[in-house]
Amino acid sequence: MSSVFHPDNDETINPSGNPSIRDVMAAYTGRRNFLKGTLGAAAVATLGGLGGVAKAGTALASYPVSPAPTGPIPFTGLPPNLAAGFIDAVSVPQGYTAKTLIAWGDAIGIPGPDALVNHDHSSPQPISAARQATTFGQHNDGMHFFPFPSAGTRGGSNDRGLLVVNHEYVDPGLHANTANYASIPMTREIVDAQVAAHGVSVIELRRRGGEWSVVRPSPFARRITGMTPMRISGPAAGDEAMKTAADPTGTSVLGTLNNCAHGYTPWGTYLTCEENWNGYFGANGAFTQSAAERRYGVTAGGFGYRWHQGDPRFDLNAPGNRNEPNRFGWVVEIDPFDPTSLPVKRTALGRIKHESADFALAPDGTICFYTGDDERNDYMYKFVCAGKFNPASRAGNRALLDSGTLYVARFNADGTGTWLPLVFGVGPLTPANGFTSQADVLIRTRQAADRVGATMMDRPEWVAVHPTTREVYLTLTNNNRRGTNPPSSNNPDGSTAAGGARPPVDAANPRPDNRYGHIIRWTETGNDPAATTFAWDIFVECGDKLNPAPNLKGNINGDDLGAPDGLWFDRQGRLWIQTDQQGDGTGDWVNIGGNAMFACDPSTRRITRFLTSPRNCEVTGVVNTPDSRTMFVGIQHPGEDWAPGAYTAKSTWPDSGLNGPTTQSVVTKPRSALVVVTKNDGGVIGT
Ligand code: FEO
Ligand code: CA
Ligand code: CA
Repeated sequence: MSSVFHPDNDETINPSGNPSIRDVMAAYTGRRNFLKGTLGAAAVATLGGLGGVAKAGTALASYPVSPAPTGPIPFTGLPPNLAAGFIDAVSVPQGYTAKTLIAWGDAIGIPGPDALVNHDHSSPQPISAARQATTFGQHNDGMHFFPFPSAGTRGGSNDRGLLVVNHEYVDPGLHANTANYASIPMTREIVDAQVAAHGVSVIELRRRGGEWSVVRPSPFARRITGMTPMRISGPAAGDEAMKTAADPTGTSVLGTLNNCAHGYTPWGTYLTCEENWNGYFGANGAFTQSAAERRYGVTAGGFGYRWHQGDPRFDLNAPGNRNEPNRFGWVVEIDPFDPTSLPVKRTALGRIKHESADFALAPDGTICFYTGDDERNDYMYKFVCAGKFNPASRAGNRALLDSGTLYVARFNADGTGTWLPLVFGVGPLTPANGFTSQADVLIRTRQAADRVGATMMDRPEWVAVHPTTREVYLTLTNNNRRGTNPPSSNNPDGSTAAGGARPPVDAANPRPDNRYGHIIRWTETGNDPAATTFAWDIFVECGDKLNPAPNLKGNINGDDLGAPDGLWFDRQGRLWIQTDQQGDGTGDWVNIGGNAMFACDPSTRRITRFLTSPRNCEVTGVVNTPDSRTMFVGIQHPGEDWAPGAYTAKSTWPDSGLNGPTTQSVVTKPRSALVVVTKNDGGVIGT
C-alpha cells in the first residue's frame, strides 16, 4: 500500500513480476474506492441531491431541473460531415487533436514472443486465431480507463493506466479475407480466428512527452475472447438449462461474445455486456424452435456467420449442445488488474441482449446497475444488489453481483414509473404461468418481463448515471416498428418473436416510425438506487430540423443528430452522446451527415457536435483520464458495406494516416480503432 503514496509510484512499477502487479492492484482499489465513496457523498450533500424533492416511497410528480456542468462547453462545434465532401477521418474542433492509438490486429503487448508482432493486413493470409489472441480484436465498442494510483493526483494517474475495451463483433468477410464469405468452405480455423477477435482487450497505456502509447510488453496485457474459460455464478449457475455435454455442471463456459457496451464497478472491476449473441448459433439439419429461442431470436441460420458449420459448439443440433445459447446473454465481470483471474458471468443480472451496465451508488453503499435490452420493443432493467458496497474491502464486494433483485421498468403515462420485480413466486412469475425457479426466471428474463407487463421501448442502448445527482439517462436509438399497423404488443406468455411486435406509441416512446430515436431520463424516488418507483422525462427527441415531416424534426436545441447510442457523463457533468446510423450522410442523414459525438449541457439541453467520423463507421466508446484532459474515443467498423474486391471502397481509415501514423505501411482494409483526443493547450476536453 505504501507505494500508493510515493510520488513516483507510476514510474517505478516493475513490469516483469507478479509482486508488482499485486501491489498495484491493492493500491489501486484501496485509493480509488476511498475517493469514490467520500467525494460522491460530499458532492451529493453539497447539491442537496435530488432526494430533497420527494419523500422515499412517493413518486415524483414532476421532473427536477438537472444541474449544469461544473465546467463550461465553449468550443465551437463542427459542421455536419455531409455526403458531398465527406471527410473520411476523425475530425475534432479547432484547438483539438485526434490521433490513432491502436487498431484491429495491432499487438497489445502480451508478454512473450508475440508481444510486439502486429498482423500484416496486406498479407494474403487472413489473421489467424493465434495472432488474433495476442492482438487488438475487431470492432471495438464500450471501454473504461482504470488509472494507476498516483499520489497527489485526484482520482489516480493521468499518465498511466489500463484501458479495457470491448470487441463487439466481426465482419466475417473482412476478417477471413474473402468477398465470398457466404459460399466458402467453412473450417474450424476460420471460426476460431473470428471467435478470438471477440471479447475484451486489456491494454496498458502510458503518456510520455505528451504522447500516449500502448506499453508493450505489459504484465497486465490480456485478451479475453470467445474461447477464454469463465465461471458462471449467481442463481442460474448449475441449473439444468445451463448444462451441456461439454459442461455437465452448468458452471463453466468458454468465452464471451458480442461484447457491446460495458460498465465498471466501484470496486475496480470491468463489466462486459453480451448483446447479439444469438446470431452466432445455427442448426445443421432440421430445427424446431422453442418459444424461448423464438423470443431471443435463436434461429436455424443465425446472422450468417456459419460458425455452426465449423464448430459443433455453435450447432444447436450437436449432441448435448442445445443449452449452449443459454450460457450467453449475461453481464461478465472481469478483474483487469489480475491477468490470471477467471471472468465471471453474473446471472443475477438477467439474460437479455445486454447493452451496457452503469451503476448508481448512494453514500450509504446502496448500489444498483442499470442495463437495457437492445432490441425493438424490449425492456429496461435494473439490478439492486442485496449487499452494500464497502469501500474498505475489495474482496468483500466481489459477491455483490450474485445476490439482489432484478427489476424491469414500466413507464407510466403520468411521468411516474415502476420497477417490477422479476422474482420467482412474486406476482405472475409462478408455476401456473410456466416458471419453475429463480434460475428459470433469469434464463428466460425476456419472457418473465413480458409476463409482468414491462414497457416496450425503442431499443434501449447505453445508460449514463450523472456523477453527482444520480439521474439516469438512456438512449433509445430507433424503432421502425413503433406505430405501424396492425398494432400488437409482446404477448404475456412470452411467445412473441424477438422484435416482432408492432406497438402503438406511448408516453415514453411517443413517435411512430421513430427512425431518429430519443433520450429518456429518470430520477429514483428519494434518489435511492433501491427505489421501486421513479419520475421520468423525455430529455430530447432526436431528428432533422430540415426534414419536412413533423414526426422527424425532433426538438434538439443545437446540432441535429439521430440514432443516439453511446452515452456517458464526464466528471464535470457534461453528457457525451455518440451515434450509430448508416454513416455516409445519405438518405435520412442528408442534413445530419455521418456519425458523430456531441457534448450536451443537461441543464439547457444544448447539444454541440464535437467529433465527426470516417465513412460508414459507428462512434462508440468514450472515456477520459481522471483530469478530463485526455479522451479516448472508439471508431467501429469504418468502411462497412465495402464492395467485393475492394475492402477500402468506402473508407481507407485509419491507415490513410489522416489521424497520424499506424502500424500498416500499405492501406489494404479499413480497421476499427481507438483515437486519443487532446486539447492543444492541455485543457479539459469539451472546454
Ligand atoms: Fe451493439 Fe446495441 O449496440
Ligand atoms: Ca451500442
Ligand atoms: Ca447500436
